[in-house]
Amino acid sequence: MRIFDSYFSKNIDFINKNMGIRAVITGVQGYVPDYILTNAELEKMVETNDEWIVSRTGIHERRILKGEGKGSSVMAIEACRQLLEKTNTDPADIDLIICATVTPDMVFPATANLIGAAIGAKKAFGYDLQAACSGFLYGLVTGSQFIESGRYKKVLLVGTDKMSSIIDYQDRATCIIFGDGAGAVLLEPNTEGFGVMDFVLQSDGNGADYLYMKAGGSRYPPTLETVQNREHYARQDGSTVFKFAVKNMAGVAKEVMDRNNLTAEDVAYLVPHQANLRIINATAEHMGIGSEKVLVNIHRYGNTTNGTLPLCMWDFEKDFKKGDNIVLAAFGGGFTWGAIYLKWAY
Ligand SMILES: CC(C)(COP(=O)(O)OP(=O)(O)OC[C@H]1O[C@@H](n2cnc3c(N)ncnc32)[C@H](O)[C@@H]1OP(=O)(O)O)[C@@H](O)C(=O)NCCC(=O)NCCS
Repeated sequence: MRIFDSYFSKNIDFINKNMGIRAVITGVQGYVPDYILTNAELEKMVETNDEWIVSRTGIHERRILKGEGKGSSVMAIEACRQLLEKTNTDPADIDLIICATVTPDMVFPATANLIGAAIGAKKAFGYDLQAACSGFLYGLVTGSQFIESGRYKKVLLVGTDKMSSIIDYQDRATCIIFGDGAGAVLLEPNTEGFGVMDFVLQSDGNGADYLYMKAGGSRYPPTLETVQNREHYARQDGSTVFKFAVKNMAGVAKEVMDRNNLTAEDVAYLVPHQANLRIINATAEHMGIGSEKVLVNIHRYGNTTNGTLPLCMWDFEKDFKKGDNIVLAAFGGGFTWGAIYLKWAY
């Protein structure tokens, strides 16, 4: 008996792969705070105007989480609670919580653990994943591996960011773009040919100078000087990031199609990271897919960093059909970028 057990556990990966266990999304839920920050309000804060913002980015408004002592976990907990209710999932059955964020409540403990405690995920272990705006996409891949290995049955992945906590509302290059929001998905095993089929993930640390938050980490811990120099805010070289994003997000989206012999007709939807409407359109053009297949909600939420992909799937969940071929693509600071091909399961 013991011999059989050890043989079985050593070969479980092999057996699962051959049984075709894949991770499927079995539910998606978003949460955005009530407060709407419009372009008109931004016009009163920095030298900008609605026409410029809309034509250069596609953004009309974004949500802001107001209130003393409220961190990214507040939005994540709300999204996760509603997701568990919607999918009839007992929180005690969750095995793992991955929280993708660049704005954790605190440097430590991990925000994933705060979420787990709040929703009553008693047996789950959890950790935060930081890959800037590609975090949710990386999380979907890493969470899927735990399911595909056969080790876990229920992985809760949540992307959440309170970008307003690291945005300088005196800097027109960044404050017009970002907003707050969260979204969560439940990952479960499936052997019927649905779920995460393939992915491409990449990163390049040479991009670090173009999109970053200088202080607050171990290199430049907070001092009076770092605060006075406004170094606890996100900074970017917009046009360099823009060029990088167009080339690379489009590149991996096309690569994941080609690797899987998917034609433009085969793709039901592109779920792109919502950073700039022009970047989204360039990606769709490179993939050769029509605008009716490109899912966009940037006009309502701006760039919510780790919230964009789940918020987008949540907004369009009613349009998805079982078996739809969906491509997700993202890019972000680091630089990080990647694409996933999945078959929708419900
Ligand atoms: C930030 C971004 C919208 C700027 O658009 P752009 O077309 O590249 O514009 P530029 O930075 O070249 O600036 C063009 C002009 O508009 C001005 N400008 C910049 N921000 C402005 C604003 N908010 N309102 C009005 N004018 C603005 C610039 O000063 C510049 O003026 P100049 O020509 O007199 O020098 C765009 O570069 C972008 O979206 N980059 C990617 C950012 C991103 O996605 N970050 C998140 C990554 S996950």
